[in-house]
Amino acid sequence: MGKTGYIVAMKISAIRGVKDILPDEIVRVQQLEDTARRLFERFGYSEIRIPIFEVTELFTRGIGTTTDIVEKEMYTFEDRDGKKLTLRPEGTASVVRAYIEHQMYLQKPVTKLYYLGPMFRHERPQAGRFRQFYQIGIEALGTSSAAMDVEILAVLIWLLQEADVTGIQLELNSLGDSVCRPQYRKALKSFLKDNLHKLCEECQKRYETNPLRILDCKNESCRAVTAAAPSPLDHLCQDCLAHFEQVKSGLDQLKIPFVINQRLVRGLDYYNRTAFEVTTGRLGAQNSIAGGGRYDGLTEELGGPPTPGIGFAMGVERIASLMKPVEPPKPDFFFALLGEEALKQMLPVIMQLRREGLRIEIDYGGGNLKKQMGLSDKLGARYTLILGENELKSGKAILRNMTTKEQQELVLSTLSQTLKSLVKP
Ligand code: HAM
Repeated sequence: MGKTGYIVAMKISAIRGVKDILPDEIVRVQQLEDTARRLFERFGYSEIRIPIFEVTELFTRGIGTTTDIVEKEMYTFEDRDGKKLTLRPEGTASVVRAYIEHQMYLQKPVTKLYYLGPMFRHERPQAGRFRQFYQIGIEALGTSSAAMDVEILAVLIWLLQEADVTGIQLELNSLGDSVCRPQYRKALKSFLKDNLHKLCEECQKRYETNPLRILDCKNESCRAVTAAAPSPLDHLCQDCLAHFEQVKSGLDQLKIPFVINQRLVRGLDYYNRTAFEVTTGRLGAQNSIAGGGRYDGLTEELGGPPTPGIGFAMGVERIASLMKPVEPPKPDFFFALLGEEALKQMLPVIMQLRREGLRIEIDYGGGNLKKQMGLSDKLGARYTLILGENELKSGKAILRNMTTKEQQELVLSTLSQTLKSLVKP
């Protein structure tokens, strides 16, 4: 038994790699979400809410069986009906599944969607890397125009700018398509062949399954081997090269700075042509704050009509940690009510004012004036209204401006109007 007479139960903590977003941090997340919604809507993107879990096959087929996500990171389980399900590790596969399922391609030539919500990956947790994390993403399906690549990149960069995130870099690459990528893959493999023993164990496996990923391995010896590797850009076919040139000149036209990173291959297999990441030097190892690219084969791969697509997703926690602190909203008034009668008479007034949009705090526990003033101060209220038996008798309450410390008397019969005029001039 504990001191209070309750049985002392064992404390339960959140799972490793999964965190609570507390009120101080959520204000930044909300600001990012609000900014994103406003910007996306201006560009014609509508929200879609995709399920948190899907049949496992959606992700194995969509993301690719030899990717780290599918091989090692998915939260997969059987439900009570024996169905194999997975907590979504990303949103693109689900958006495309929904696009096909609801035959959105019949409604408009180009479908533009955005989503936000939690994703799940069983990665090794560390600063900035979680097992449940939030993404905000957009997808545009139905056009292979390079102008759409530019639009997607512009939305991403301008969203980060509007959220006041500084110190970022847009990295760009082209991964070619089904015409030129097989040739590049061959060229890369023949370059790596003689140095296989110098690659890390993981990359030795990748040599057979997913050789392009060797390019973005962080291991020093792998990087040394690939330093002189052939570049995907030197192997682009005519069409892919022209597309890449258009994307670059579109970004130049909009004055969106970027750097070419020929090692950028992304961890999901559905990409072709444009691939990109936004990185920052301010977050240590987890330096990628957003990523995306073109996925012209994904809709067909998932059983839909051939439909080009492109999109991005950003890591909300990582971006929130780069944003300037946002002050949580403060109360307009704190009502310091002294005695039962004051509480009884003021409660309907407080409730009505709250319904009309005023932020009002009150301490139902009561207590003396000093205690209540202390609480008002702590909560950061703009004004404190003091009302006890004497004030009830005289028909006047005391209003204290918490910044200037000035006090004035307010007539109770017109209290609501006076308080409203103070905060909503
Ligand atoms: P991704 O690069 O795997 O792409 O994830 C996008 C962003 O999510 C990353 O840049 C990072 O900021 C954040 N993120 C990823 N894993 C974690 C983690 N374990 N903890 C915290 N943040 C994380 C995608 O998911 C693609 N679906 C993007 C896309 C949309 N491509 C086309 N359309």
